[in-house]
Amino acid sequence: MLIKIQIINGPNLNLLGKREPEIYGKMTLEDINIKIKDFCDKKKISVDFFQSNIEGEIVNEIQKLNDQKGRGLIINAAAFTHTSVAILDALSILKIPKIEIHLSNIYKREEFRQKSLISKSVDGIICGFGFESYIYAVDAIDKMIKNGN
Ligand code: DQA
Repeated sequence: MLIKIQIINGPNLNLLGKREPEIYGKMTLEDINIKIKDFCDKKKISVDFFQSNIEGEIVNEIQKLNDQKGRGLIINAAAFTHTSVAILDALSILKIPKIEIHLSNIYKREEFRQKSLISKSVDGIICGFGFESYIYAVDAIDKMIKNGN
């Protein structure tokens, strides 16, 4: 079965590299996407990338995904993690393996970041490992799909 993963990134992640590098690292989003693509190629997984600063565009992108077998979603909703009922609702409709990721450990940061509204609608959360949070999530989705989850 062909495994196909959609990666969705939220606001300000397009500025990675120059955005608070002491928190988010020096890699650009392009650098991170290349690492993810290389990892997926080795595992023969197909991967697509989407980034938007606009909440409604992220909802639209989630709605484009369907419940087809072999599909998975990795989402870093960035600041919308802490505010968006619309993204939570869109994720709740989708019945494929879904993982929320963050570059930073949100539970080690300001109190307002320690609450994720979207966690309730995902299978798991990976945070605090920098760009490798995405890599671990790819691995987790691969295993979930192969195990029939
Ligand atoms: C983030 C954490 C969020 O709190 C923040 O708003 C981001 C990035 C992360 O990847 O660590 O933009 O999702």
